[in-house]
Amino acid sequence: MRILMVCLGNICRSPMADGLMRKKVQDNQLDIYVDSAGTANYHVGGAPDTRMTATAKSKGIDISGLKARQFIVSDFDAFDLIYVMDQSNYNNVVRLARNETDIQKVQLILELRTSPHEIEVPDPYYGGQDGFEHVYQLLDESTDIILKRLTNE
Ligand code: 4NP
Repeated sequence: MRILMVCLGNICRSPMADGLMRKKVQDNQLDIYVDSAGTANYHVGGAPDTRMTATAKSKGIDISGLKARQFIVSDFDAFDLIYVMDQSNYNNVVRLARNETDIQKVQLILELRTSPHEIEVPDPYYGGQDGFEHVYQLLDESTDIILKRLTNE
């Protein structure tokens, strides 16, 4: 099983989702590969945003070693599940899909929740520190659901 987390810049939301999922996979000794990517190329090769790294660290998650990369068409072949953070990410990824099989792999990560109040993980880049905490909470909840699904199936 291979899971890809996708946002716009691959420096805030998807690295957090990636770090959370990797930790849960590791803690549960599961054979699941986790990675993340951005639909844009602005930050390629760069480390995650220091505010996101600090928030992750405060929760016991180390994302400092991640490097941003751009989503590429071959990711549809390399991954089984592709979780996107917002509708714009969804549109950008699906635009690159070659067929229905590719499209079926893509899902808004917050749609996993049974009664989502919010359907999009808000972009914290231009906001304050509380935005990063909020992203963490949403993604902690969502990655718990992914973990449950993968271990019950
Ligand atoms: P992300 O946040 O998509 O969660 O990584 C962003 C990071 C950078 C930019 C936008 C969103 N940017 O415009 O540079």
